[in-house]
Amino acid sequence: MSVMRTAMRTHACGELRAEHVGQEVALCGWVWRERDHGGVTFVDLRDREGLVQLVIHPEEAPEAHAVAKGFRSESVVRVVGEVRRRPPGTVNPNLATGEIEVAVRSAQVLAAAETPPFPIDDRIEASEELRLRYRYLDLRRPEMTRILRLRHRINRIIRDHMESLGFLEVETPYLTRSTPEGARDFLVPSRLWKGSFYALPQSPQQLKQLLMVAGQDRYYQIVRCFRDEDPRADRSFEFTQLDVEMSFVDEEDVFGVIEPLMARIVRETQGVEVPTPFPRLTYREMLDRYGTDKPDLRYGMELVDLGPAFAGTSFRVFAAALADGGVIKGFAAPGGAALSRKEHDQLTQIARETGAGGLVTFAVLPEGVRSPVEKHVSPGEVEAVLQATGAREGDLVLVVADRPDRANVALDALRRRLAERLGLIPEGVWAFCWMVEPPLFEWSEDEGKWVSVHHPFTAPADPEDLDPPAARSRGYDLVLNGFELGGGSIRIHDPEIQRRVFERLGLTPEQTEEQFGHLIRAFRYGVPPHGGIAFGIDRIVMLMAGKEAIRDVTAFPKAQSGQDPLTGAPAPGLRGAAAGTGPAAGRAAAAPRSDRRPRGR
Ligand code: AMO
Repeated sequence: MSVMRTAMRTHACGELRAEHVGQEVALCGWVWRERDHGGVTFVDLRDREGLVQLVIHPEEAPEAHAVAKGFRSESVVRVVGEVRRRPPGTVNPNLATGEIEVAVRSAQVLAAAETPPFPIDDRIEASEELRLRYRYLDLRRPEMTRILRLRHRINRIIRDHMESLGFLEVETPYLTRSTPEGARDFLVPSRLWKGSFYALPQSPQQLKQLLMVAGQDRYYQIVRCFRDEDPRADRSFEFTQLDVEMSFVDEEDVFGVIEPLMARIVRETQGVEVPTPFPRLTYREMLDRYGTDKPDLRYGMELVDLGPAFAGTSFRVFAAALADGGVIKGFAAPGGAALSRKEHDQLTQIARETGAGGLVTFAVLPEGVRSPVEKHVSPGEVEAVLQATGAREGDLVLVVADRPDRANVALDALRRRLAERLGLIPEGVWAFCWMVEPPLFEWSEDEGKWVSVHHPFTAPADPEDLDPPAARSRGYDLVLNGFELGGGSIRIHDPEIQRRVFERLGLTPEQTEEQFGHLIRAFRYGVPPHGGIAFGIDRIVMLMAGKEAIRDVTAFPKAQSGQDPLTGAPAPGLRGAAAGTGPAAGRAAAAPRSDRRPRGR
């Protein structure tokens, strides 16, 4: 018997197969398409499981035929009929139900539909705003069902894997306390405590650490997190984390839990085997070789230091960059010499938009090397550039001379763009890698002080070395195909080291007590050494679904504007303390760290 059987139906539309031939079935679904062939009416009936073809003969079932003639697209109908094999020549191999059809005996409209504002079709022409306003119609599309199912499967794989390794799923509160680190909080005014606010969690960071103090050993949770930061393709106000914390571990223990999970997700959703262990690259190495701490390792084009090639150059721009403590870095793009003038201009534009002063190119052509700066550089320097980058005929060498951070950001953007433009990204490759040994602190221009790169509970690599910028931490990120999927760290469990880190962050003992007193107190009662990690499930699903934005893999996302076109949120408060007051006055609403990568709290 079908698991989809209910009082109103025997099967779901999409589950009928040849084995059902001869059975009488009752089906419910949405009218997708209707057509008439020589007086016989054909209807494609759709539900979540798929499509089935209904045939309604005017002579065999005159009443049903009359009802079906009045079917409007997207109306909900119920039919009863017999499953038949399709006549030879009409089998549709592209459809799961393509071998059969249902000869309808009776039909009824359960709910008529108005004409939808856009056709329910995977060839989308409607704007995103319209699709989100009518998301319940958008979600009727088979592609959206595929994505919801994929997300569901990934969540199941996660739960199954964590369960098999002894993790306990524990829920933590959504109404909690604002923490001063990181992105802005979403605040919820308290009715009982006028003037006070709960904060929605940016992550359950402190609570999962408290669960370790509570002796719970291995915790995970699939949990919603909230950060008031500008939405982007891979970032939204609310998102879902796979949050993990473990006791008595080092980095390899954490990686050892995560790597087989990721390999399994890829195996079960893509049919691809990814090798483990994943490569581990230090933060420093990543920046040197790729200009970013989330490199896409599916293709080469590694950056090289061209400082030595131009050590004594008379080219003013390069000499000045070196003299100012800057770098000259570049890479060879295979086949890039064939790019047009216009595309060269676009590349220069990318370099400028991402903050670099400019871009110098060397095109390796059969007749020699062409460069806009060929008059300023010596043949020896050009030769050294080709040597260092490994450029061959047909390649384009891209060079940026600037402050190290600016050169890296620009070269990372150029590398990504060229990989796409030159078709260098292989299909079906899942290039995971761990970023390890990030700095402990980084300078925040916004706040004018050193802040934690991960969060202040992250253990220093060497407790004796807390001096920024050199001090390293025991943080790590998991990177996949150029995206940061997750991040975590081994935590500080020694209250004295924690005190010194807070001190380095410029917190007075009073501020520390006020903000973190609960955690520090807990650590006095026997804290196990512990560590953990959190993943953006939206990002995992986005990559597995082959989509470009996490909005595409979320059932009811907000638009990029931050509004929800479906419900009209945000809206003025109707009742309660929120109306017209509050959040802006809250502490955490001040001074967003606009530029920083928002980091785990
Ligand atoms: P972190 O801040 O690095 O770490 O976040 C972990 C992962 O969550 C995802 N993520 C987001 N996804 C969508 N929209 C957002 N606005 C967003 N912000 C973060 C990313 C990111 O890698 N508590 C720490 C983890 C730990 O130390 O255990 C934390 O939250 O995929």
